[in-house]
Amino acid sequence: MTRVAERITVYEVGPRDGLQNEAGFVATEDKLRLLRILADAGLSRIEATSFVSPRWIPGLADAGEVVSRLPRKPGLVYAALVPNAKGLARLFDALARAGDEAAQVDAAVFLSASETHNRKNVNRSIDETLAAFDEIVPPALARGLSVRGYVSTAWGCPYEGATVPERVVSVAERLLAMGCYQISLGDTIGVGTPNQTRRLLELLLARARPAELALHMHDTRGTALANVLVGLEAGLTTFDASVGGLGGCPYAPGASGNLATEDLVYMLHGMGYETGIDWPLLIAAGELAERLVGRKLPGKALQAELGSRALLARASVT
Ligand code: HMG
Ligand code: MG
Repeated sequence: MTRVAERITVYEVGPRDGLQNEAGFVATEDKLRLLRILADAGLSRIEATSFVSPRWIPGLADAGEVVSRLPRKPGLVYAALVPNAKGLARLFDALARAGDEAAQVDAAVFLSASETHNRKNVNRSIDETLAAFDEIVPPALARGLSVRGYVSTAWGCPYEGATVPERVVSVAERLLAMGCYQISLGDTIGVGTPNQTRRLLELLLARARPAELALHMHDTRGTALANVLVGLEAGLTTFDASVGGLGGCPYAPGASGNLATEDLVYMLHGMGYETGIDWPLLIAAGELAERLVGRKLPGKALQAELGSRALLARASVT
């Protein structure tokens, strides 16, 4: 494999993409504990929460309080999803309470490449959604925030089937033209396979730099890491993942967890890439996430690590 970069940014989305999908409400203090341990583990990009409608996503209704109390660390930049002007006003209000200049929080806008998923997710057509971004992106940039753009269902849609890559390209180009610093390509329902990913990246890299693209894979069918490998080969340096593999999209039936952060980091470290992430602390973050949601999480490297620790602990008492 051609090696293009040495350092990879692991973009942690568990506190948002993971917790948005939980049936039970994780207390604000517990969310802040999870954010603290992820920060301590060395994650430099963490999507902390979402300013969407609390009626649509009750689990993140405390977004304002979370952002106003984010644990600070030099070099650590958070992000929050923002769907409309109302969400942006809530983010600005939380930043003001946090003390604006100290707060390092990006805004993230999102839409789907497929019309039906977009409507189910945000109750608007793709064109209406893009038009509404005019009320988010310019004011966010004017306030000094960077803005990331997500293109969901970039490989396939639960309602419309496979996505034509040219549709992804056209939406991504519009987001970049608006001023998004990076487009995160979402495999919302985890259907992508490597050749499809290669083709999509070829089309996009004719129009964007590798640093302007990221992969956001859900691991529903076990193909997330194979797609990451294609992304690495194409020169991408940012990959989204979720602690323990928490997550999914509540408006995409069958969307299971994101690629687990531990699985991604295990592979990257094994290949000699630097991430700045401390493995034992990352495992501790996964353990905490399991305690907070009250169940075993699907991340394979997390389960392997916890399993071998349990084995060693048993061996040392016998
Ligand atoms: P709507 O119901 O069409 O909104 O929802 P509306 O503009 O008609 O307003 C209805 C009411 O909601 C009003 O209140 C508004 O004030 C309020 P009322 O007057 O009835 O009292 N409202 C809000 N309140 C708080 N914060 C707001 C807000 N906006 C309106 N921001 C809306 C439209 C977009 C808000 C809604 O559809 C929504 O919140 N959708 C978000 C769904 C979501 O979060 N999905 C998951 C995230 S995307 C994802 O996971 C994919 C990703 O991970 C990438 C991948 O995997 O592909 C990013
Ligand atoms: Mg997602």
